[in-house]
Amino acid sequence: STYALILAGGSGTRFWPLSRNARPKQLLNLFGTDTLLEQTISRLEGLVPVENILILTNSLQVEAVREVASMLPAENIYAEPAKRDTAPAVALGIGLVAARDPEATMLVLPADQLIQDTEAYHSVMRDAIATAEKSDGLVTIGIKPTWPCPSYGYIERGVASEIDGLECTHPPAEVTRFREKPSTEQAEEYLAQGGFCWNAGMFVWSIPTVTSQLATHSPELADFIGELRDSSDLDTTVTERFPGLTPISIDYALMEKADRVMNIEASFDWDDVGSWISVAKYLDTVGDDNQVNSPVSQIDSDHNIVFNARKGSHVALLGVDDLIVVQTDDALLIANRHQADAIKKLSAHLPEEL
Ligand code: GDD
Ligand code: MG
Repeated sequence: STYALILAGGSGTRFWPLSRNARPKQLLNLFGTDTLLEQTISRLEGLVPVENILILTNSLQVEAVREVASMLPAENIYAEPAKRDTAPAVALGIGLVAARDPEATMLVLPADQLIQDTEAYHSVMRDAIATAEKSDGLVTIGIKPTWPCPSYGYIERGVASEIDGLECTHPPAEVTRFREKPSTEQAEEYLAQGGFCWNAGMFVWSIPTVTSQLATHSPELADFIGELRDSSDLDTTVTERFPGLTPISIDYALMEKADRVMNIEASFDWDDVGSWISVAKYLDTVGDDNQVNSPVSQIDSDHNIVFNARKGSHVALLGVDDLIVVQTDDALLIANRHQADAIKKLSAHLPEEL
């Protein structure tokens, strides 16, 4: 059977003051509709049954996740006992899925991406599932790169995969190289060379394939999965063993080293919504070029982003350009638009309660 593991335990420091440790990007109402986590769950309708969708998060966020994910069985939402990045989280997820079906095919999905074309998403994911079921490879989803972004993984696509009996619309290719977060210079070279795509951060694999790849490339995580399998008290084993695991992302721990990685090109829209600049694209325009989420009065102001989440308050701009202005009930951010990526650095300088 098919399972989905949604990773929803990242921190959201780039959206301060809207995001807090207990409320990262995937739990924010950025687009006036559902949160990204809710969208990630509803996008699976027709692809994975709700009882097979698991969410991993941390203890700070678990209450908010339970609220948003109320359509899932309560026992499908887990809080990791410590923050150890995505590789330990994925290993725990593999253990939890394997306990239900040791032969399952599983999707690993980030909780914080914006994808609007659900039909195309289903078509690609169905092919990824078929590829994972009929081969011994780890399947990745590729996004056409538009600039040398250093915060993504880069995937070099090689020859078309030969898989017996596989019929699909989006044919997989063998991956010749998976490189997580290269320098900007290195990314520029990849783009100039051609044949590279961005890693969407979604993985599809069968439990037997991923467990054997971890045994070769990350014995620590393979041992942990083995202990979960042999445990008579899963919760206690997780509490005792998880905090001791090395913090590392699945991209470094497994994907860069794995023996057989395949790639399917995404035919759907994809936005990682990495900062206020990415959010701005989905907001309303006021004046010449100000992006706002609520009514803003402005004179002689241009190219500003205003996100006002404080009910009953109003923002006015006079003679200012290139600002990011974010207002919440307890904080106000005024930032230079060109420093949107540096907002995460503020967290080290803020009072603890913020
Ligand atoms: N449960 C849990 N526990 N989830 C976590 C943890 C954790 O400790 N850390 C991060 N996550 C979640 C995040 O909330 C997000 O949904 C997902 O795992 C990916 O983690 P990020 O921290 O956002 O990864 P990234 O953006 O730096 O890089 C990954 O995604 C890129 C695409 O967005 C990589 O896979 C890159 O290769 C990829 O290009
Ligand atoms: Mg991310």
